[in-house]
Amino acid sequence: SIVHVILTGGVGSRLWPLSRKSQPKQYLELFEGKSLFEMTVERNSHLVNQVMVVGNVDNCHLSKKVLEKTQTTYINIVEATPRNTAAAIAFAAFAAAPDAILIVTPSDHIIDEMDAYNSAITEAIAKAQEDYIVTFGIVPTKPETGFGYIEYQDDAVLSFREKPNKATAVDFISRGNFLWNSGMFCFKAKVLLEELHQFEPTVFEKAQAAWKANQEGQLNLDLSMAIPSISIDYAVMERSKKIKVVASAFNWSDLGSFESVYDYLLNQGHPVDDQGNMVIGTDVFSTFIGLKNTIFVSTPDANLILQKEQSQDVKYIYNQLEKEN
Ligand code: GDD
Ligand code: MG
Repeated sequence: SIVHVILTGGVGSRLWPLSRKSQPKQYLELFEGKSLFEMTVERNSHLVNQVMVVGNVDNCHLSKKVLEKTQTTYINIVEATPRNTAAAIAFAAFAAAPDAILIVTPSDHIIDEMDAYNSAITEAIAKAQEDYIVTFGIVPTKPETGFGYIEYQDDAVLSFREKPNKATAVDFISRGNFLWNSGMFCFKAKVLLEELHQFEPTVFEKAQAAWKANQEGQLNLDLSMAIPSISIDYAVMERSKKIKVVASAFNWSDLGSFESVYDYLLNQGHPVDDQGNMVIGTDVFSTFIGLKNTIFVSTPDANLILQKEQSQDVKYIYNQLEKEN
């Protein structure tokens, strides 16, 4: 069977104050009354037999609302605390049949050109049947440091580098044979678990122990706390020899930071002034003097003013506020 695993554990801290713990970005109905989460469910529903949502106690009711609306039957895996994507994916793999094909996607991406998407998924499923772990590569447009980079030749992955520094990213782009990792993966449950067991035995064992003690998909907090927090990219993708890439022709955008939201909105015709300044979240007349490439984000109870190029740093403010509360 083919299972769509939706990861929805992140809070989207780089989009504070639009995105909050109580209302993470993937549930904001920003797109003609639909959220990114709902669009993710719909995009894959004709390609899969089953849906598994890996989320947390703070957002499982938000997922449930959407899945009931779209009449999707699903398995809910509810983390007691976020332990990063290696653990989240392991839970789904433990819950699935060993030979099930898992299509793992985030819940917060914008994708269009469905024909290209469908054919990329079909190609990936065929490779996953041959026991490969498939990544989806996107042609890079700038030396973004928030992504993973895939050095490739046809469908072979020569190397995988998660979140390089700026100089390395510039070098990768100039070399021409690198793709961005889209953050979606396709593999047999047992293949991913074998690789995780090999490269991160502690993550494997602690995640397995936590999973075995689950109660109707709900994980125990103490057992979860024992799982090392590491992303699947560092844990498996950078190390495994079983990785293949499907170079993908669909349009892809990760609304991960205000810089990518800015680029997306600009494309949609959202106004900017002649110095590249943009207002997000309010129709109240707002203007900029002496500023360049500044983003003003307004919400009813918090505003943020930032330099577009420093979008990755918003998470520090979020973390600071978390600590104080
Ligand atoms: N359930 C669960 N639990 N989900 C999680 C957790 C967790 O502990 N942590 C993160 N997620 C979810 C996020 O909500 C998101 O949907 C997805 O997993 C990826 O996590 P991010 O935190 O957004 O990762 P990233 O953007 O830094 O990097 C990944 O995505 C990039 C593309 O957007 C990597 O795969 C990069 O290589 C990739 O380029
Ligand atoms: Mg992301």
